Amino acid sequence: MSKISELLSRMTAEEKVGLLSGSDFWTTRGSERLGIPAVSMADGPHGLRKQKKNELGINRSHPSTCFPTASLLACSWDTKLAEKQGAAIGMEARAFGLGCVLGPGANIKRSPLCGRNFEYFSEEPLLSGKMAAGVINGLQSQGVSACLKHFAVNNQEDYRFWVDARVSERALREIYLASFEYALTYSKPKAMMCSYNKINGVYASENRRLLTDILRGEWGYEGIVMSDWGAVNNRAQGVWAGLDLEMPGSYGVNDAEILKAVKGEKTYFAPTVPDFPGTLTVEEIDVCAERMLRFVFDSKRAPVPCDCKAHHALARDVAAECMVLLENNGVLPLKKGASVAVIGEMAVKPRIQGGGSSRVVPYETDKPLDKIAEYAEAAYAAGYSLDRPGDVSLIAEAVEAADGKDAVIIIAGLPDGDESEGYDRKHLDIPYAQTKLIDEIIGVNPNTVVVVCAGAPVRMTFARAFDGGGNNRAAAVLMAYLGGEAAGGAIADLLFGVKNPCGKLAETFPMRLSDAPSYPNFPGDGKTVNYGEGILVGYRWYAETGIAPLFPFGHGLSYAEFEYSGLTVAEKDGGVEASVKVANVGDCDGKEIVQVYIAENNARPGARRHEELKAFEKIALKKGESRTVTLTLDRRAFARWDDNAGGFTVTGGEYVVRTGGLSRVIAVKGDKPNPKVTMYSDVNSLFGDPNAKEFLKEIAARFGEEIPDVPAENDCSDFRWYMLRNLVTMGGIGWTFEELQEKIDKVNGFDYS
Ligand code: BGC
Repeated sequence: MSKISELLSRMTAEEKVGLLSGSDFWTTRGSERLGIPAVSMADGPHGLRKQKKNELGINRSHPSTCFPTASLLACSWDTKLAEKQGAAIGMEARAFGLGCVLGPGANIKRSPLCGRNFEYFSEEPLLSGKMAAGVINGLQSQGVSACLKHFAVNNQEDYRFWVDARVSERALREIYLASFEYALTYSKPKAMMCSYNKINGVYASENRRLLTDILRGEWGYEGIVMSDWGAVNNRAQGVWAGLDLEMPGSYGVNDAEILKAVKGEKTYFAPTVPDFPGTLTVEEIDVCAERMLRFVFDSKRAPVPCDCKAHHALARDVAAECMVLLENNGVLPLKKGASVAVIGEMAVKPRIQGGGSSRVVPYETDKPLDKIAEYAEAAYAAGYSLDRPGDVSLIAEAVEAADGKDAVIIIAGLPDGDESEGYDRKHLDIPYAQTKLIDEIIGVNPNTVVVVCAGAPVRMTFARAFDGGGNNRAAAVLMAYLGGEAAGGAIADLLFGVKNPCGKLAETFPMRLSDAPSYPNFPGDGKTVNYGEGILVGYRWYAETGIAPLFPFGHGLSYAEFEYSGLTVAEKDGGVEASVKVANVGDCDGKEIVQVYIAENNARPGARRHEELKAFEKIALKKGESRTVTLTLDRRAFARWDDNAGGFTVTGGEYVVRTGGLSRVIAVKGDKPNPKVTMYSDVNSLFGDPNAKEFLKEIAARFGEEIPDVPAENDCSDFRWYMLRNLVTMGGIGWTFEELQEKIDKVNGFDYS
């Protein structure tokens, strides 16, 4: 008998139920009698918010290293880097004696307004899932458990506790769940956290389809699922659904509810889905208790020493690998020793992270001004006040400081209160005083570089790519996102060419809010939010509609220059292997992110017309070096959710494979021949198909007509507009449905794949 089965056999029902909720805000319940230890946890995801017992205060945790937030980390497109960051956080967790870190988050950025976007990676599920897996693998390399969150479809903060996310099965599978599915393909987190919201009418915390059928049944997940803090409604239904742990504990209230359900008594909350009987069996409790025991014994937590101070340097390196150079007219890199004006209160009061449960109290924070001053002669002016966003009185002094300098560095962005868990932004603008400041500074000094600190896209009227702005445009724009405690140093390193920018956007920057795909349906009416854009999330939408973004997904400049050549594609295990040669033809060493996209090469109704990212790899190339990169696009890369099949299937046909401006076409075999003609095709659609000639003749004969050379155009009364099944019913053709289907099969008789 295993240790866990042996323990279970000695436990009372009360003791088992006791395992299924926290003993306080941050700890699971242990048992002295049975020798079961407790596991302590802390947020996550870009550093630790280790609090004292039962304390919720956001800014009162023990210090720990504040690393770049997920929205910046994702721009590295480097899963190994994510692993490094995860490992460092895992080590700090061990130093605190924690057993579980509450992160990373793999929710998709559906709208640029989501208040918590800085905690999430991308609008693209493959990139999001792989980056999350990197962090998970890093955390768990230290023995602590990672907790992947918030499962699922938690894409807004307004109304997050109760909103019902109405989303099509296809969008769920290809976008929202796919991000988690990829994370689980590339890592094995020991814990997951369910979200607060409802998904198509059922709360995540009591959603058996989500937590058991899909997560465990289809994906084979073996860890525990815990609730988000306070996400539980019907606890008994939660146990039935597969929610193992309620966090925090409920002061015993829900233990009693579970025990009532086991005794066959009525619980306070009625079932919210018809297949939950309202009662529980002891076996159902055992399933959750067993998973909890495995989690408790698998989460290492004996404190280990950690030189957390060394992590400051790592945080700086990571940030520099991620920040995205959006525009550069050649002003960057700046020369060391140049005279520069550094403008913006954020140069001395840096914004390094967002608000809410992920808030870390850092050991030390680098100020961009101090770090820039290590490379240049730097004069400072505030230019704007973070506390008074409308106050333009500081601009004049900043303009004076900027005048005549070799270059100006403006540190701009969103004030702290604009981005937080708990609420969404209402617009994409940075404060008016900052926009005005930037305009005026550019007016006196054309060598103005704008560094943007924000966890998500903002409207950039000063960017040269901005359509419809004023005349004054910045010479260069660096998207620094929220870069953690050492972001100041990373900014300086990149601006002065000590490091070469190599991040690329993991999300689309819209020109204006109304261009964003979720715009008409975000954040919903307070009760329901309709995911009307379906699978057209992020860049998929811009590609499909032709709307030009301010900066596209995957965009990012380097001081080096890369050339792609010799793209080849070949069939491999039902998928495709793509090889391309990448050369660094620039003047310095650099890193390039090879991105491979596919699209269907036809105009079949319902075809995937837009491109989708299917593989990527970041490579380092020395000046003059070149390398051939080979990436595999497995069968899944070509599959899409098929509602009829209830699974992912590959549509056969030609696909365009594109990378770095090169493209090739390749045929991919489908899972099944695509039936060209079905019962629901109309007679008109048979014209021109040589296989259908005889069939058409038969049909026409029934109506005493000849077959015309061309299909009918606007004559709806004509039999040629019939759907084929109507021939049997209203057409009285004298065939059974079976006979009709046989004839259709003959027409389809060749392999359309
Ligand atoms: C957040 C979670 C977090 C938890 C504990 C919740 O409000 O949604 O992400 O882990 O609080 O702080």
